[in-house]
Amino acid sequence: MGRLKISKVSNKEISRRNILVHPPEPPMHVLFKDPSNSIFIGRTKMLHVPFYWTFQETTNPHIAACGITGSGKSYFIKTFLVRASFVWNSNSLIIDWAGEYKAWVRQTGGKVISLGKGSYLNLLDLGGMKPYNRIKQVMRTLALLTDVDKYPEQKRLTEQAIEKAYVENKFRMDVKEQRDELGKPLTPPTLKDVVRILEEMSSMGTYEFPAELDNAIYRLRQFTRPGEDFFAQQSTVSMDDLTTSGLVDLDLSGLPDETFRALGALAILQFLKERMRMVGWSKKKGIDLIIVLDEAWKIGKDDNSDAVMIIREGRKYNFALFVASQNPTDISEAIFSNVGTTFILKVKFDKFLNYLQNTLNFSNFMRSEIMKFGVGQCAVDMAFAAATSFPSTFLLDKIEGEEPSKEFFLDMESAYEGKEMMDMARSISFLKENMKKRLLGFGLDESRIEEVISLFDKKNRHIDVISFVVLLERYGVARSNITSFLKEVGVDDATIINIFTKADRKKGGLVGGDITQVILEE
Ligand SMILES: Nc1ncnc2c1ncn2[C@@H]1O[C@H](COP(=O)(O)OP(=O)(O)OP(=O)(O)O)[C@@H](O)[C@H]1O
Ligand SMILES: [Mg+2]
Repeated sequence: MGRLKISKVSNKEISRRNILVHPPEPPMHVLFKDPSNSIFIGRTKMLHVPFYWTFQETTNPHIAACGITGSGKSYFIKTFLVRASFVWNSNSLIIDWAGEYKAWVRQTGGKVISLGKGSYLNLLDLGGMKPYNRIKQVMRTLALLTDVDKYPEQKRLTEQAIEKAYVENKFRMDVKEQRDELGKPLTPPTLKDVVRILEEMSSMGTYEFPAELDNAIYRLRQFTRPGEDFFAQQSTVSMDDLTTSGLVDLDLSGLPDETFRALGALAILQFLKERMRMVGWSKKKGIDLIIVLDEAWKIGKDDNSDAVMIIREGRKYNFALFVASQNPTDISEAIFSNVGTTFILKVKFDKFLNYLQNTLNFSNFMRSEIMKFGVGQCAVDMAFAAATSFPSTFLLDKIEGEEPSKEFFLDMESAYEGKEMMDMARSISFLKENMKKRLLGFGLDESRIEEVISLFDKKNRHIDVISFVVLLERYGVARSNITSFLKEVGVDDATIINIFTKADRKKGGLVGGDITQVILEE
């Protein structure tokens, strides 16, 4: 009966409930920066103010972005990198887990370095560090990626053997930049030397815990096997190339598994951090280097990871780390609560929303908006260095990207019979707009066309030609139309016949299956 009830409510809870305490968006002077010294992202949702991002007023230049698959993270990253290179002449290094940026980087005139396919990185390079410090880092990396921390004796043996390997190559433990009598830089050992040292110890048979020794050897051998010794050979990758060549894609997709990929990513981050530490932070325009970690996995999750450390160290160096993930809980809370800017694209799951809301402390109104976002819509949370009277989280109508590239590719390899391949094109390219027009002409409706286009985008704009034909036939496009499209983009008659024969075979094996799923899995 209309009785007032008094209860305790925390300030945090009140701020969540109340959306009108603050003005809805930061003021113009915060959003609308000098376009020659900031990056245009999009317009705010309520007042339609153009938002130009810079890090001058935030705690640091680092960025986190999260959102479900297809929400627009990669598109945003591409747009961001292109604009940063225009505005600040920034270099970018994409640590490309799945090889998803390769084609785009090549097309944009950037450089692709593929670890595991001819490029090596020696884990025992010093990168300007003292051996003593590098050993600590290597041990920390091994602790993150293997079970070595559970076995103190094996850990000690490993550490000791690494030290011995440096000593064998004439290094002193606490000196940087070491040279031989002729003034040439010393050659660092590799993990193979470390394994050899442990094996020698084992063959002497005098060590009292042989099983510990064997296990320590076994653990390291996974990185030194011929054909999988990507991190146990002298480096062919130069840090200069990675950091000063404009746009660079460090492709990790050729490495055998997640452990190898994480090892590559961590080692690179460590070397880069050291490099930046030597240069130090200088107050100048823009950012020298943007390092992108898309789908960070262990690299972003573990508080002992170098990614987390870099972000905790804040504004010390002239580089920005850009961490993106579908799953916010794969990004350590320490990252969200320390990065200067967070972009939240569409997030659906309550578990993830709770995590974000608890870490960033935004309103329930914001939460409900985030769940409803369409592609490219986002909330921005900025950690301002000084106290402010305006909200630190606001909505963008859309990330206004430039379509980074307009070409699509049909991969042709599966259409050729073995020997023909030699002098045939591996893929055939055509303009996206051209395909859209043709598909419309074939009577496909807009939503089908969007589906085809998003499949190309998801696959880095490459689809196998046979799958493409099966897909169009599923959508009801007549063979005569498909034939004329293929002819138009330059496929010869004999190959077209091959393609249809193989398409029939594929359809036979695919009864009831969802071809879009098949294409995505290919
Ligand atoms: N801001 C935007 N404006 C227009 N189109 C966009 C925008 N963002 C994304 N898209 C389009 O939406 C599709 C999916 O985007 P994107 O690949 O960036 O998603 P993602 O979040 O990286 O997904 P995943 O987690 O699967 O990698 C692409 O076709 C892209 O071109
Ligand atoms: Mg992506």
